[in-house]
Amino acid sequence: MKYSFLVLLSVFVSLACCAQPAKSGISIIPEPVSVHPLPGKFTLTQATVIGSDAAGMANASWLAAKLATATGFKLAVKPGAAGKSSIQLLIKKQANAEQYHLSVNPTGVVITAGGEAGLFYGLQTLLQLLPAEIESNKKVVGIQWTMPAVEIEDYPRFAWRGLMFDVSRHFFGMKDVREFIDEMARYKYNLLHLHLTVDEGWRIEIKSYPKLTSVGAWNVKKTGTFGTFTPPADDEPRDYGGFFTQDDIRELVAYAKSRYINILPEIDVPGHSMAAVAAYPELSCTPGTYRVNSGEKFMEWPPSGHFYGLVDNTLCPANEQVYTFLDKVMGEIAALFPFEYIHMGGDETARNFWEKSDQIKALMQKENLKDLNEVQSYFVKRVEKIVESKGKKLIGWDEILEGGLAPNAAVMSWRGVKGGIEASKMGHEVVMSPTTFAYLDYMQGDAALEPPVYATLRLKTAYSFDPLPPGVEAKYVKGGQANLWTEQVYNMRHLQYMVWPRAFAIAEAVWSPAANKNWNNFAAKVEQHFNRYNAAGIKYAPSMYEPLIKISRDTNGGLLVNFENEIDGLDVYYSFDNSFPDNFYPRYENKPVTVPKDAAAMKVVTYRNGKPLGRLITITMADMQKRAK
Ligand code: ACM
Repeated sequence: MKYSFLVLLSVFVSLACCAQPAKSGISIIPEPVSVHPLPGKFTLTQATVIGSDAAGMANASWLAAKLATATGFKLAVKPGAAGKSSIQLLIKKQANAEQYHLSVNPTGVVITAGGEAGLFYGLQTLLQLLPAEIESNKKVVGIQWTMPAVEIEDYPRFAWRGLMFDVSRHFFGMKDVREFIDEMARYKYNLLHLHLTVDEGWRIEIKSYPKLTSVGAWNVKKTGTFGTFTPPADDEPRDYGGFFTQDDIRELVAYAKSRYINILPEIDVPGHSMAAVAAYPELSCTPGTYRVNSGEKFMEWPPSGHFYGLVDNTLCPANEQVYTFLDKVMGEIAALFPFEYIHMGGDETARNFWEKSDQIKALMQKENLKDLNEVQSYFVKRVEKIVESKGKKLIGWDEILEGGLAPNAAVMSWRGVKGGIEASKMGHEVVMSPTTFAYLDYMQGDAALEPPVYATLRLKTAYSFDPLPPGVEAKYVKGGQANLWTEQVYNMRHLQYMVWPRAFAIAEAVWSPAANKNWNNFAAKVEQHFNRYNAAGIKYAPSMYEPLIKISRDTNGGLLVNFENEIDGLDVYYSFDNSFPDNFYPRYENKPVTVPKDAAAMKVVTYRNGKPLGRLITITMADMQKRAK
């Protein structure tokens, strides 16, 4: 009772504070193909019956369980026609199993889908028609569970709608991955890319190579800014980390499947392999003792872009044991994951140790490889043969193009879209996942507020992602995905903050017709979905309420500031005297603000209709000077 009151109160407060309902009162993310609002509404009650044909019964039970949590209703689920005041689920098999038609009228709801997946997506849309409190994890009283009458026709733009979850930089376990899958399912994602191996940990049991997890899954717990940690001493306990057993993986695959999500496993080789060589140093070209990285610096990234390793974190392409190893690993991976692709990584391989290796020189001579790109390509082609021998297809990051792409490989384009365009021109399949639009580890608001990361991706930029850029032939583009790397992500709450709402934006990029996308509508819908996340207890970033801050210099070298808002209707207030601005302070009037010469710091806050929205941003003068350079 107390909880229900609190939920109601928080929803009331957040509505009063932020919400700007989309015009029809219907706020579906991702935007459907067509939405036709009708007069009237349907009200869900204790007496509502869910009826389904046989193929839809799993979905019907899922819906009943989902609705029960917040409403407390124990709705009857019946095979066949359910009669009046019902939710009827029907499958009419069609080529596109993901399409559905949702019809809500005052006497009931009918979802007709091309297959089970389409039915499930219809249910996600249905839930988004109900009040935000439907997402509560506890019973909420005093709510009228109504949905507006509407006809919705819907199907996805792309077959590959992915999110990548790096469970390796920091280990995230079963409960976290299940939660992530549930959050993906709400927004009609169908592909979970698990980044399972990296320098900081090997996260999947491989029975043929047990040290991958007994050694490779553990490092030293460090707290602070990843990448800058002090190197661990030899006697510091290596007890931070973890891994998925093969039983765990089978359970996750089944869990994801029940939500129509495939899992793409990534075994990242030949670079990013410190955890593997810590377990089996004989897989390296450089003899030595290796340790799983704990977040201390081990690569250099000079501005020239020619990065290099301070430690050799690669598998050796000139060593036959490496291919025996990969044959076993890929064999076990192929047996665990039913998805048709295995991701071999292939990114950011520091090759400076290869340059010095006699083994590599001998390989180059024997195989007539003229440079290290060709050595890498030799490796990728051998991995492709291994993966194909297990009945799977190979996909890798766009570095696998360097030195010549393997004959059948698909490319995941991350360094912009150019790798994807190049691969498509050669007739290869492509998934677009460019840093410029789809990197969820990047900062999303002002750097003064965010945990430090080297780049920024604002919500509005993420929303402008189009997986089909000019120059690419549509038939080769399987779709798109966003990637969450977890160097600076230590727990689920921060993970959610990084993913949402940018993954709302990516969901529209991969699901909705390009012509249906509209930033202002989307931004209004995002506010509605914030209410849903408030009810669900899921964290999100409020950065869209905060301005982009542009600092420049006047002709005398003094500082000028301009503010740009991503969404309409915001007023920006500021101070330079250390005090806390509110809506009685100077307001930005769309012309440059001169920063007083002796200003202490700049503080900025946004309001809408007299209510504070964004977080307080404080930028020191030293930082202002740096930004103006
Ligand atoms: C990547 O971001 N290194 C694929």
